[in-house]
Amino acid sequence: MPKLEAMLVSSVLSVVSQQIGATIRGHIRLQWDFNKDLNKMKMALESVQAVLEDAERQSIQDATVRLWLKRLKDAMYAISDMLDEFESSNKPARWKFAATIPGIAIGPRFSMANKMKKMREELENITNQHQNFRFTTDISSIVQPFLDERETDSYLNDQTLIVGRTEEKIRITDSLYESTMEGITILPIYGIGGIGKTTLAKLVFNDTLFKDYSQVWIYVSQIFNLNKIGNSVISQLSKGESHIAEKQRMRTRLAELLSAAGKKILIVLDDLWEENEIQLEELKGMLTVGGEGGKVIVIVTTRDEAIAKKICTVHPYKLPPLADERCWDIIKQKCAFEARDDKDHVESIGRDIAMKCGGVALAAQALGYMLKPLTFGEWEAVKNSDLWNLPAFKDEPSPQRNVLACLLLSYKSMPSHLKLCFAYCAIFPRGHKIVKDDLIHQWIAHDFVAPSSIFSTRQLCESYVKQLLGLSFLQHAKSFSTNVVHGRDVSLFTMHDLVHDLARFVMADELHDTGKVRSIWGSNCRYAVVRLVLYQRRDPRDSNSDCQPCTHTG
Ligand SMILES: Nc1ncnc2c1ncn2[C@@H]1O[C@H](COP(=O)(O)OP(=O)(O)OP(=O)(O)O)[C@@H](O)[C@H]1O
Ligand SMILES: [Mg+2]
Repeated sequence: MPKLEAMLVSSVLSVVSQQIGATIRGHIRLQWDFNKDLNKMKMALESVQAVLEDAERQSIQDATVRLWLKRLKDAMYAISDMLDEFESSNKPARWKFAATIPGIAIGPRFSMANKMKKMREELENITNQHQNFRFTTDISSIVQPFLDERETDSYLNDQTLIVGRTEEKIRITDSLYESTMEGITILPIYGIGGIGKTTLAKLVFNDTLFKDYSQVWIYVSQIFNLNKIGNSVISQLSKGESHIAEKQRMRTRLAELLSAAGKKILIVLDDLWEENEIQLEELKGMLTVGGEGGKVIVIVTTRDEAIAKKICTVHPYKLPPLADERCWDIIKQKCAFEARDDKDHVESIGRDIAMKCGGVALAAQALGYMLKPLTFGEWEAVKNSDLWNLPAFKDEPSPQRNVLACLLLSYKSMPSHLKLCFAYCAIFPRGHKIVKDDLIHQWIAHDFVAPSSIFSTRQLCESYVKQLLGLSFLQHAKSFSTNVVHGRDVSLFTMHDLVHDLARFVMADELHDTGKVRSIWGSNCRYAVVRLVLYQRRDPRDSNSDCQPCTHTG
């Protein structure tokens, strides 16, 4: 998959430009000669900022533009690092010391002046080169400065927000309920990411037809662990029995619980990725225990048809895409369509955009939220965007391609600071539960938060989180507690896989992958991928998830 790092340049540039502004304001009397350089840099950046939207667009097709953007971004980072160095060498204590022994202060100051001059010249060279590309100043840019885990559970936040799927739900509930089969029935639901498999499984799970069933919801994840699944069934059926580490005892206890005479049990195994037939047979065997008059129904969700076919006992159900009309319903919900004055104008454009979602609910959600603050002209710009035909996604199957394009459009509409905060989440492994408070601290530590004289940094971070949740770029993850414990907010978030892919694409070579590249020397990376020693085996969807200790460079 080609990289999309060019999409990050404008946000980096805007943040560094603000950093320069802040440095100028902060040190104007102490270092007036540096300020001349800083002001020149700022002007050079401003001259290039106006054409960046076009440059990013052209970079999709043109490798030389991509190269130019990369040089610009690298220069941005070098300037940012230099300013950090400048800040730390200008701490008051240092200055006092320098005043007493002047000779000591001259060295660092002199080399800083040299660095500053070199950086300014390098930046001017790069920015002057943009004349060669005939970029246009883009005022119809859709960029709007609006402020604004995968682990699943059976809880349905608000059933009224789920559109369509009534027919699908009735088909599944009826066929399962009417199944006279004693013993085990395994029905897989399969379909592409974000189409609504988990949502449909929740609808079935919460249906009143199954209210006299003992119910178990298990999020399987890409890390398949039979012992964990078995123990999870035990603890949910026995209401809290503690973990049984020994396999033999676990299997015996599980069999006792599942085979209780006359017991009816509904189990959802959400998000199964295991392909290995032996493992799947063992899972099946573990759950197949005949109790007299008992019935065990298992609903499995998976993206993979082959897995569905391996695990099923009845014909697997392929979840069809949502009708375009339903995607339009989701967009309408998310963009507060009914409250718009220009409803009649935007409706036909909105319907055209809905068709591009490929029936994928997740894509419709992200687009709907993004369209909310946009004007009629901007809705048109979204509809006609080049991103729908992005060559970077040309190898993807059609619905997937559209989902990625939808997500990328949402990404492009975010303000610069929010873009950086989102892209930063690529450092976490797929499916990782991100602790809200930690994430916010990291954003602050990296200076991703926009300066504001009205809102506190914390308030701004809360607003970033809210926006990312609104876009479905972050999702709430179930946690043992979502309260504040010892003053720490332990709310957890996850990112949908496709959203995580997007963050990785945008970060591209900014991420140092210790699994692939052993040394960081000579690379341009700014962040190391977080790795968990907890991960015992390779994530089949993610080449970045080897077992490594957690590291992070900034
Ligand atoms: N029918 C629907 N109406 C409204 N929103 C929906 C509908 N179906 C799914 N969604 C929303 O779309 C998002 C993705 O849905 P879901 O998690 O069910 O997809 P999935 O097929 O299970 O994806 P994955 O393969 O990644 O597990 C969720 O935020 C969900 O709330
Ligand atoms: Mg799912």
